[in-house]
Amino acid sequence: MKKIKISSFPGKDNKNFKNINKIRNKIINKTSATPINNEYIIDRVGKNLYPKIQRLVVKNIVEENKDIKTFYFANADAGTLAIFRPGQYITLLLNIDGKFLSRPHSLSSSPNEAINGVYRISVKRVEGGIASNYMLDNVKIGDIIESLHPSGELYPSSIRDKKHIVALASGIGISPFVSIAKAIHDKTLDKELTIFYSVNYINEFVYAKELKELANKNNNIKVVFVSKEENEDGIENGLITVDLIKSYVTSKFTVFAAGYQDFYDYLKKELTVLNLGDKDFRFESSPTLSKPIVISVPQASVITIAEEKKTTKKSKSKKKEEEEEVEEVTEVTPEAIVLPKIYNIKVFHKEEEYNIPCFENQTILSALEEKNIKARSKCRSGECGYCRSLLLWGNIRVDKDKEHRRSADIKYNYIHPCSSYPTSDITIKIDI
Ligand code: FES
Repeated sequence: MKKIKISSFPGKDNKNFKNINKIRNKIINKTSATPINNEYIIDRVGKNLYPKIQRLVVKNIVEENKDIKTFYFANADAGTLAIFRPGQYITLLLNIDGKFLSRPHSLSSSPNEAINGVYRISVKRVEGGIASNYMLDNVKIGDIIESLHPSGELYPSSIRDKKHIVALASGIGISPFVSIAKAIHDKTLDKELTIFYSVNYINEFVYAKELKELANKNNNIKVVFVSKEENEDGIENGLITVDLIKSYVTSKFTVFAAGYQDFYDYLKKELTVLNLGDKDFRFESSPTLSKPIVISVPQASVITIAEEKKTTKKSKSKKKEEEEEVEEVTEVTPEAIVLPKIYNIKVFHKEEEYNIPCFENQTILSALEEKNIKARSKCRSGECGYCRSLLLWGNIRVDKDKEHRRSADIKYNYIHPCSSYPTSDITIKIDI
C-alpha cells in the first residue's frame, strides 16, 4: 500500500490558498460571457408535458339532451395534452362578456385518450348558472378555451384505496367514473369498479351506452342504473341505498361519490351504517355540480307581498272608498323583507385596492368574480388551495365539509375564498 506523506498536505494547501485569487481570475477569464442556462432539461420536459395553462380547441360537440352537451377538445397548439389521473378535472378559464370565470369539469375521457390528443367533458345547464349557460348556448366547434392543467383528488390510488371501488354518481357526476371505467378497461388502472348511477328520469342518463359496453367487455366493471322516478326492466327504481349496494357488492370497498351537495348530504346519512372513515368515503362536489347561490327571501315574506299585490290589483276595480280602505292595508314596510346581510370586502390585489359587497351566503370568490377581479381558482370547493389568500382583518366562516386548510394556514389567517363566507366586513390580500 502506498504511504501518504501527511506533511505534504498543509504545504500544498497553503500554496494553493496563496494563489487562490490568481486561480479564480484565471477561471473567470476563461469563462464564456453568455449567461448559463439555469433551466434544467427535466423542468423543460415537465413544463411541456404538464403546462400550467393549455389552450384547447373545441373539436366536436354532442347534444346529449336539451340540458347536457358533451365537448371534445384537442390541444390548440403544437404538443400533447397534459396527462391526468382517471377521475380528475380540468378548470376552464372563461371570459364571458368581459367577466373572468373559471369552472372545473371532470374529464370523462381516459388518460390514454389524452395521450392520443383528446379531452372530453360534459356540461349540464344549471338554472341561473352563467358559465354552464354560456358553454351550452355560445361555445361552438373551433372555439379556443384556456384551461388549467388537470387536478383533483377523486382518483383511485393503489396504496390508499381498496381494490374494489364503489362509485356513486348523481346526474352529470357520472363523468369521473366513466374515465375510471375506461382506464380499468385499457388496463392502465388495476381496480374493480361498481358504478351506481342515479338520475330522476331515465332520459337523463348520459354515457349509458358506453358504460354498458365497457361492462359487457370487462368483468371488473359493473354498472347499476337507478331511476328515482321511473320503472323499467334493467333499471333499479328509487334511491341508492346501503341495501342496494350490498345486493351487488360483497367484497370490501372504498366509496367514491360525485354529485350535488344534497346528494352528499343524503349519502352521508344513508352510508352511516357502513362506518366508513374519511379515507373510504370520498366525495367530489365541484361548483359545476352545485346549485347557484340563491339570495333567499323568507317564504313568509314572499307570500305576504304576493297576496298584498293581488289585493291591490283587485281593489282598483272597486269603488274609490274601498280602494282607500285597501290601500291602507297594503302598505309594505321594509321590515317585511329580510334579505341576507351584505358585508364589505376590502381587497388588495397586485397594486390595486377595491371595495366590493358580498352577501353573507355568497362565497368571497364569487363576490370577487362578480366585480371582475381576476382571482385565482381551480377546484372551487376549498380542496386544492390554489385560491389561497390572506385575511388581514375581519372574520369568515367555512362549512365543515369544505374545510381543507392546513392547520398552520388557519392559525396564520390564510383562507380559501372559494369556500369562505364573510361574517363581518373583511380585508383580504389575494395575490400572495
Ligand atoms: S380553488 Fe381550490 S381551494 Fe379554492
